[in-house]
Amino acid sequence: MSNKENDGPKRILTGDRPTGKLHLGHYVGSLKNRVKLQNKYETFLIIADVQALTTNFESPDKISQDVRQVAMDYLAVGIDPEKTTILIQSMIPEIAELTVYYSMIVTVNQLKRNPTIKSESEQYGYDDMSYGFLGYPVSQAADITFCKADLVPVGEDQLPHIEQTRHIVRKFNNLYGEVFPEPEALVGDFPRLSGLDGKNKMSKSLNNAIFLSDSAETVKEKINKAVTDPARIKIDDPGHPEVCTVFEYHQAFNEENADEIEKKCRAGEIGCVACKNRLTNTINELLEPMRERRVKYEKNPELVDEILYTGTKRARKIAKETMKETKEVMNLDYFSNKN
Ligand code: TRP
Repeated sequence: MSNKENDGPKRILTGDRPTGKLHLGHYVGSLKNRVKLQNKYETFLIIADVQALTTNFESPDKISQDVRQVAMDYLAVGIDPEKTTILIQSMIPEIAELTVYYSMIVTVNQLKRNPTIKSESEQYGYDDMSYGFLGYPVSQAADITFCKADLVPVGEDQLPHIEQTRHIVRKFNNLYGEVFPEPEALVGDFPRLSGLDGKNKMSKSLNNAIFLSDSAETVKEKINKAVTDPARIKIDDPGHPEVCTVFEYHQAFNEENADEIEKKCRAGEIGCVACKNRLTNTINELLEPMRERRVKYEKNPELVDEILYTGTKRARKIAKETMKETKEVMNLDYFSNKN
């Protein structure tokens, strides 16, 4: 049976599509959790390049550059390759293989009802979407289960996909035999961080993000332009922190001082400029060690490649074992005595 049945540490799998640099929304939504949890759980991070193809199939060359970019963001943020296995999705063919078997036990209507698929397809303006796009939650279920993950730290938008995975696991286990644990989602403290525009979720495509790799100067400029409480005109006007993005960031990144700032803002005792300066300092303090770690990898890209290669190899070994077990319970293990 399963090779990690009882007492071994629980396994985590999570990951990202390589579609560009990671930002503060990723940090509070999930990265922070991952850095913490890697000490407690056996952690796998998948760079989902096949999933990125669902929307970027016209520029695979860009995706392969972004794979390294995301890996560098992971390492900069404090993911330790000794503790966490970082892997490239397309290099694990067993994930594609599992996806095919899972696709038999998921209905098209289930996929069409998935709220994240719905909103993403609207965002991309698809009136007809590709089979691969509609089906990416099935492939994501294969990502999560190839290593029999128990826990999936993700942002809120991913919850429908984890639900879909749980459904597939239950159905698979019922039909063929208990192979997979039902994974649970773990949402970060700030599952939906606003963007600098104060209207939308922080997102690279909406141009409202502070990236983990931004310089101290860029962070300052971006925060200076951030939208605050529109009712505050004069410096001592009483503020409304509940509508202010800068205050939201204080809550997310400067928790210990958020109460004091809230009181002063409501009393008109701190102006927006001073409040923004404090935030800039806090965020730069958070990002500084990341910048330092990044330099080492930027100077030695072969180090990043080595980490990806080793991690993928380690993951592939596990994927092969899981695939073998999957085929056995499905009675597809032909000629197993011959190899
Ligand atoms: N869909 C996730 C995103 O867009 C990325 C992803 C791919 C993922 N495979 C995964 C997340 C497996 C968690 C588990 O961010």
